[in-house]
Amino acid sequence: MKLQVSELPLGKPQQTRRKTPKIAPLIALTVLLTIPLYYPAFRDSSKKLTEVSNTYESLEDPAEETIQPTSHLEYLAPPTKEEELSQPCSGEAERCDENSEGGDDTMVRRHVPAPVGRRNVKGRRTKARRAKRDVVHRKDSVREENKSQKHTTAGNGDDDRIQMLRSKVMDEDKCDLFSGEWEPNPEGPYYTNETCNAIQEHQNCLKFGRPDTGFLQWRWKPDDCELPIFDPVQFLELVRGKSIAFVGDSVARNHMQSLVCLLSSTSTAVDLSHPLDQNKRYEFNEHDFNISMFWSPYLVHTEKTDPNDEKRPFNLHLDEFNLNWTTKIASYDYVIISAGHWFFRPTYFYLNRQLVGCLYCPETDVSHLKASFSYRRAFRTALRAINDAADFGGVAFLRTFAPSHFEGGPWDKGGDCVRTAPLRRNETALEDYSLEMYLIQLEELRIAKRAGRRNGGARFRLFDATKPMLLRPDGHPSKYGHPQGLNQSFAKDCVHWCLPGPIDSWNDLLQQLLEREA
Ligand SMILES: *[C@@H]1O[C@H](CO)[C@@H](O)[C@H](O)[C@H]1NC(C)=O
Ligand SMILES: *[C@@H]1O[C@H](CO)[C@@H](O)[C@H](O)[C@H]1NC(C)=O
Ligand SMILES: *[C@@H]1O[C@H](CO)[C@@H](O)[C@H](O)[C@H]1NC(C)=O
Ligand SMILES: *[C@@H]1O[C@H](CO)[C@@H](O)[C@H](O)[C@H]1NC(C)=O
Ligand SMILES: *[C@@H]1O[C@H](CO)[C@@H](O)[C@H](O)[C@H]1NC(C)=O
Ligand SMILES: *[C@@H]1O[C@H](CO)[C@@H](O)[C@H](O)[C@H]1NC(C)=O
Repeated sequence: MKLQVSELPLGKPQQTRRKTPKIAPLIALTVLLTIPLYYPAFRDSSKKLTEVSNTYESLEDPAEETIQPTSHLEYLAPPTKEEELSQPCSGEAERCDENSEGGDDTMVRRHVPAPVGRRNVKGRRTKARRAKRDVVHRKDSVREENKSQKHTTAGNGDDDRIQMLRSKVMDEDKCDLFSGEWEPNPEGPYYTNETCNAIQEHQNCLKFGRPDTGFLQWRWKPDDCELPIFDPVQFLELVRGKSIAFVGDSVARNHMQSLVCLLSSTSTAVDLSHPLDQNKRYEFNEHDFNISMFWSPYLVHTEKTDPNDEKRPFNLHLDEFNLNWTTKIASYDYVIISAGHWFFRPTYFYLNRQLVGCLYCPETDVSHLKASFSYRRAFRTALRAINDAADFGGVAFLRTFAPSHFEGGPWDKGGDCVRTAPLRRNETALEDYSLEMYLIQLEELRIAKRAGRRNGGARFRLFDATKPMLLRPDGHPSKYGHPQGLNQSFAKDCVHWCLPGPIDSWNDLLQQLLEREA
């Protein structure tokens, strides 16, 4: 497939340009995610890569100032009846925008300063505060991004809010698998690119010359219990007669491929997927088990703005189910749903078939909203679809946002992920849009759980990838997601995860989570 610059999904503004200080890392993710998905031949052409880079830079051209920044504004749709939260909202407006106020049909604009430290979860606060104060970085690291440019950091208020929300969505009588540290594990990894043929090129880091292998020798250690390493034999017994559906984007696929690889030492899956289909299907016939991947990076119903061009911005129908997966999940026992970086792409937002706003669109007569607007509503709708699926008798796991790790600059200005070892908890903190996405997921999970319990809907569980993966800047392909020799600064993937790599631990977690359900 040949790439034309005109096909770029970046939605170059035509009339006016907006000053959007936080756009750079977001579009970086966009580009990184888009290229491997849409342009398989693209990585081999350094000339075309340059053209992308130049086009991207023209987006940032600061010849604008005509539109005021929208980062603190958000237009809100009126809430529907079943969407209310149990407690009054205490965060920023966009974090609790479905609260009980605003019963009219007009779009409401609110901007409420966030109170700090209002929800104090005793006993955890000290640790949270210490973690915040001790934000330091390893000496061998590349230069960190300038933290003072970030608008949101996990201060005490945010940490308290995270703890409060997590306590609402986790079972109190079970060990918290997701709070812990990475500890050395000389026995890793448990497969190689020779024993597993499900590794996608872009994640085959050792093939493309990644020189260090220390990143393969860590295991996740929860604070309050042991997390056994994935056991393929036991796993296949556990899931005999069952099925797992992954719903999401390329990071969901990354997770699925890790699972297939971990199982490959015991059982070879029959791959029933068409190579060009983003949906995937693996069957383990001896074990009466199957895995499907439902490609749905926005979770909801979407349309192309240009039916002939996959790369133009999508219309997101934020209140409509994506029937591609919502009509199929009922026959699965476990659904693992996730979504992330695609929400930072230029998109148009629809509610009730009306255009209500957009992200990074050139139009001046459309409300410019934040990615959090679409992210929250997409999860609301997707989780409601699961609750509404009358025949779904299984368990749905919300796998939370896995942070990217560009350091030393944005993706196209030298930003990279070159660390070779994990961080410890006290060396970093969840920040900015990662924090925002994570909070939205916790809040939406809580709403869905409550609705499920009340109305006999689905069982929802937290699958918290955010906390462990925040500490794994060493686990991304960086420049080893493609053949070497290209001289392109942006071809650094700090979004996906090497296989083998730390994402394999998601299946250690998955095994425990499924054992709890058995
Ligand atoms: C970080 O950014 C602030 C404001 O943009 C600037 O004053 C400061 O010098 C920067 N610090 C570093 C270490 O780059
Ligand atoms: C696997 O990785 C090695 C380097 O460790 C590389 O030489 C080999 O080509 C790779 N094989 C496959 C099938 O990807
Ligand atoms: C595999 O998945 C399908 C859903 O497509 C399901 O109907 C079927 O029962 C599953 N098979 C097994 C053996 O679990
Ligand atoms: C549903 O799947 C079809 C076929 O894969 C695809 O063309 C279509 O865009 C998908 N629809 C949505 C809303 O994702
Ligand atoms: C982080 O914690 C470890 C032990 O848990 C300690 O050795 C290290 O000094 C701490 N680092 C900072 C910056 O506090
Ligand atoms: C590669 O990139 C560097 C830094 O951006 C530049 O100085 C150099 O000229 C480039 N080399 C080629 C062959 O394009």
